[in-house]
Amino acid sequence: MTEGDKYRALHARSLSDPEGFWAEQAQAIDWTKRWDKVLDASKPPFYRWFKGGELNACHNALDRHVEGGRADQLALIYDSPVTTSKQKFTYRELRDRVAAIAGMIAAQGVGKGDRVIIYMPMIPEAVMAMLACARLGAVHSVVFGGFAAKELASRIDDCNPKLVLTASCGIEPNRVVHYKPLLDQAIDMAKHKVPRVILFQRPQETASMVAGRDLDWVETVKGAKPAACVPVAATDPLYILYTSGTTGYPKGVVRDTGGYCVALHWSMKNLYGVKPGEVYWCASDIGWVVGHSYIVYGPLIYGATSILYEGKPVGTPDAGAFWRVISEHKAMALFTAPTAFRAIKREDPDGKLFKKYDLRNFRTLFLAGERGDPPTVDWAQKLLGVRVVDHWWQTETGWAICGNFEGLDPMPIKLGSTSVPSPGWKLEVLDEHGHAMKAGEVGALAAKLPLPPGTFPTLWNADERYKQGYMTEFPGYYKTGDAGFIDEDGYVSVMTRVDDVINVAGHRLSTGQIEEVLGAHNDVAECAVIGIADELKGQVPLGLLVLKSGVNRPHEEIVGDVVTMVRERIGPVAFFKSALVVHRLPKTRSGKILRGTMQKMADNQPWTMPATIEDPAVLDEIATAMKKETT
Ligand code: COA
Ligand code: AMP
Repeated sequence: MTEGDKYRALHARSLSDPEGFWAEQAQAIDWTKRWDKVLDASKPPFYRWFKGGELNACHNALDRHVEGGRADQLALIYDSPVTTSKQKFTYRELRDRVAAIAGMIAAQGVGKGDRVIIYMPMIPEAVMAMLACARLGAVHSVVFGGFAAKELASRIDDCNPKLVLTASCGIEPNRVVHYKPLLDQAIDMAKHKVPRVILFQRPQETASMVAGRDLDWVETVKGAKPAACVPVAATDPLYILYTSGTTGYPKGVVRDTGGYCVALHWSMKNLYGVKPGEVYWCASDIGWVVGHSYIVYGPLIYGATSILYEGKPVGTPDAGAFWRVISEHKAMALFTAPTAFRAIKREDPDGKLFKKYDLRNFRTLFLAGERGDPPTVDWAQKLLGVRVVDHWWQTETGWAICGNFEGLDPMPIKLGSTSVPSPGWKLEVLDEHGHAMKAGEVGALAAKLPLPPGTFPTLWNADERYKQGYMTEFPGYYKTGDAGFIDEDGYVSVMTRVDDVINVAGHRLSTGQIEEVLGAHNDVAECAVIGIADELKGQVPLGLLVLKSGVNRPHEEIVGDVVTMVRERIGPVAFFKSALVVHRLPKTRSGKILRGTMQKMADNQPWTMPATIEDPAVLDEIATAMKKETT
């Protein structure tokens, strides 16, 4: 056998016999009722995995390990440099805490299928809250703390939660994030009236309570009767996670239960190369899909120990923070975004802090969330002396589309590539007519349907949007929204988005959504937002504003207004800090704004005057404005 043979055989089998392949992987999961059909393909593009099967994700993540000999093994290590605190929970302790919280939630009348919004910082109670919902068959929707009240309100209106679980505050290195006033504002804005809020008061800040609606977490959980796991259908939703679409209206990615548990279990062993009982660290946030899959469900379903880190790669307290955590908790792998490594490299280019720590248990660095740019990956590889695996992900897919399978058959790493497809993924590069392109040619990355287990079966309350947004342009395929190429060896490189999504510090943002905010300013007639290259964050948004005629306020004031508006309406995570006032926007004769050309200009990349341009002079004006801005 040569390198990669094992992977290739497995991948080929996953495509030729998907039902046989995934039925075998499903043996690793506890089912209360075996499925009737592994794959229900009767209503494409709505595929259902493990139809007829029943299970509980929380049982698989906790109870079965307690019963199966891991009761005293650590399940969760909370490490919080921002509060200088640490806590450790064994599987038994975590199960007991989760059962009590589930009891508290059930006492509010929340049961199978009911939605619960979790708006919490990176504290153990947040992880427990997710698992407690899963225990009851309730559908959680975690909202990232860096979003503004309006974003939270639109999620409340989309999923109509019976309960919101929150905490008094989050801690960012430079400020306290006041969760409760944001939540109160969101509840006021939303049409759906949230009947109940349960609030965890952190020692750093005591939030005010709304009488009759809000309950104190610690008080309420004291009287709760521990709840047992409720079996749900494999096809029932475990969670909804909202992600950026092309408009301001949120897109609720649905994750089902059975396929997700199966896929995550498979990936922990074969992709991440973890052995049960080892410590695995994903330094993301539970507000993102990566956090759902690899801080919470993946490691626990697999019987590993997960680290919950409330801190940053730099500044908490220094650029050695990651090495300290890995060394102190004996982590075997770290999963983070390249931007974190760019931040570390900027502060400690020679890796002086790295040399202070003993990382003998550390085997692999996994990167995702944005393109692993070769200089950063190369730097990380040389510094750490371990393999650095870039793998490709989306909220929609729940786990990696492509990667290098460390526990199965590690293959050579090619800088700039996310390696090879995960089982069940048949990727092709298509041109605009849906024709397959040759090896090495850049085009739209699309995946032949059905997608493997663990991916999204639909969007919450929006089957049609699911179909239109992802499955229609290339019939029989899932349109990933990313562009890239596949080389002669089958390695996949993901280069850029094909839509108006930009990636800021590993966070996915919609330029269309930011444009909606800018366009709401009284003085703005027209606007465009583009993502421009940034050394640290990968991309940052830049606004271009055309003012209404007769407006003669100073431009700095208007720019200041729109910066504040984006922060207030979308949130600090948008990192919208700059805008240029221009006379006109460059458009094609049919009226399409030439965002791509402006982006190339801003990034000093070669660009050509589009043949369809309405007025070439406009682009010259923009080029001058951009040059002035950067000098
Ligand atoms: N709650 C509230 N605000 C938050 C937040 C949270 N959970 N996370 C970030 N923010 C705020 C930040 O405080 C910052 O606000 P500011 O403009 O007032 O300073 C703003 O959102 C932008 O944050 P970010 O872009 O994350 O910058 P940062 O300086 O806080 O951190 C990195 C930089 C590189 C450490 C960080 O972006 C990072 O770890 N990114 C990885 C993302 C990731 O894990 N993605 C998932 C795929 S693995
Ligand atoms: P999100 O849904 O927030 O996880 O963002 C998904 C998007 O991030 C993808 O569609 C890609 O554009 C980008 N992305 C994630 N991982 C990678 C990667 N390894 N290489 C290139 N782009 C990536």
